[in-house]
Amino acid sequence: MKDVNAHRKRRAGSRARLLLGAACTVAIAVSSVAVATFAHADLTGPPGATLKAAAERSGRYFGAAMGGDRLSDQGFLTIANREFDMMTAVNEMKPDATEPNQGQFDFRAGDAIYNWATQHGMRVRGHTLAWHGQQPRFWGSLSSSSLRAAMIEHINGVMTHYKGKLAYWDVVNEAFAENGGRRSSNLQSTGNDWIEAAFRAARAADPSVKLCYNDYNIENWTYAKTQGVYNMIRDFKSRGVPVDCVGLQTHFTGGSSLPGNFQQTLSSFADLGVDVALTEADVTNASTTQYAGLTQACMNVPRCVGITTWGVRDSDSWRGSENPLLFDRNSNPKAAYTSVLNALNAASTSVPGTSTPPSTPPSTPPVTGQPGGCTATYRLVNPWSGGFQGEVTVANNGSTALSGWTVLLTLGGGQSIANVWNGVNTGTSGTVSVRNATYNGSVGANASTTFGFLANGSADTAPGAISCTSP
Ligand code: XIL
Repeated sequence: MKDVNAHRKRRAGSRARLLLGAACTVAIAVSSVAVATFAHADLTGPPGATLKAAAERSGRYFGAAMGGDRLSDQGFLTIANREFDMMTAVNEMKPDATEPNQGQFDFRAGDAIYNWATQHGMRVRGHTLAWHGQQPRFWGSLSSSSLRAAMIEHINGVMTHYKGKLAYWDVVNEAFAENGGRRSSNLQSTGNDWIEAAFRAARAADPSVKLCYNDYNIENWTYAKTQGVYNMIRDFKSRGVPVDCVGLQTHFTGGSSLPGNFQQTLSSFADLGVDVALTEADVTNASTTQYAGLTQACMNVPRCVGITTWGVRDSDSWRGSENPLLFDRNSNPKAAYTSVLNALNAASTSVPGTSTPPSTPPSTPPVTGQPGGCTATYRLVNPWSGGFQGEVTVANNGSTALSGWTVLLTLGGGQSIANVWNGVNTGTSGTVSVRNATYNGSVGANASTTFGFLANGSADTAPGAISCTSP
């Protein structure tokens, strides 16, 4: 356990500043890519030949972390594109990077990673919003009450920029001490409720993204810190504080190797009603036993949604001298890669909700045979108390391309649309019409496109009377 902290200290001063220049003009990519869900789990399908294919068999993802400097590293990009379907920015979405001066946000470095990842079919985990480390310098000179306000403003500013685009956010990182109490920090000194204040602000800023608490040394179920985090999550769930997931960093070192009860830890958290994920995995000397074991533990827990390694090749690692990753410095997969791949392919549980095709709620059968030859199908992506995210697939079943489409859907009482992407809406309640955006009106024969939306109100009643027309 001490090793992890030693690495933190050694590396803290050496973090490369972000590369910004060429990324300045890159716009945010199509937003729905980031919240798209995977093809459906099929545990009976053929084994996957890559990490992502093997993980997707059970509705899971396999992710990596990348720094902005890797965007010009072809060796890295080739492996990342082939093997991974989730990406985390190593430093570029941290508080010091995204808000270097109060109220002045800088998303160029984060966006560059986001754009590359989504343009290559990956989803993105946001890391991180509130942490004792890598804070903007100005946080250090604020009074407690000003710091609390600055933290909320930071969450609002960053999450608004990435609204609807990310799969997960590590809202709060590393807030517990080894003894199971809270870590002392300037954030902690703003009041013990700072963590829930952060999560409440996060939910309000972007209701579509899953909100995670993330920490290290919480893999061993009997460890005091694990219990401290567990009790906080249990308390949050009992009081309705919005938390959706727990990230276990899974940095295994000589001093803290894979515990025999890791699966118990994962399932105990999951039983509280949150997703769990291994968010920063690396293992001293890439022990095949430990890598196989950590993967198996995740595969055995249905709500363990995915694994991220903290880098791709040993040369990418913050613990580089320990060679802790799945690829060596020559980009070759190591023995640990095979042990992880095999364990992914041997998964016997799938993530809830991924094993059957999305069903159309009975109240919203797709309407076929419309004049323009398109059909529209609604699917509920993510419900929460007081709101939900929906997706509509516009399919062209005809033999000629569509040159534009319009979908009508009727919202239930109390429902209203807050935000639409990949489409342009007219009206927000009652019967709402959504026509294609400039870039997705052309839909080829037997092809389809989607638009997404966020709505206020209960998801219990699916939007009804859905129809599609094309000129
Ligand atoms: C590390 C980065 O890898 C380093 O480049 C940086 O100097 C320090 O931070 N836990 C976390 C990550 O949540 O953000 C840390 O990343 C590793 C430990």
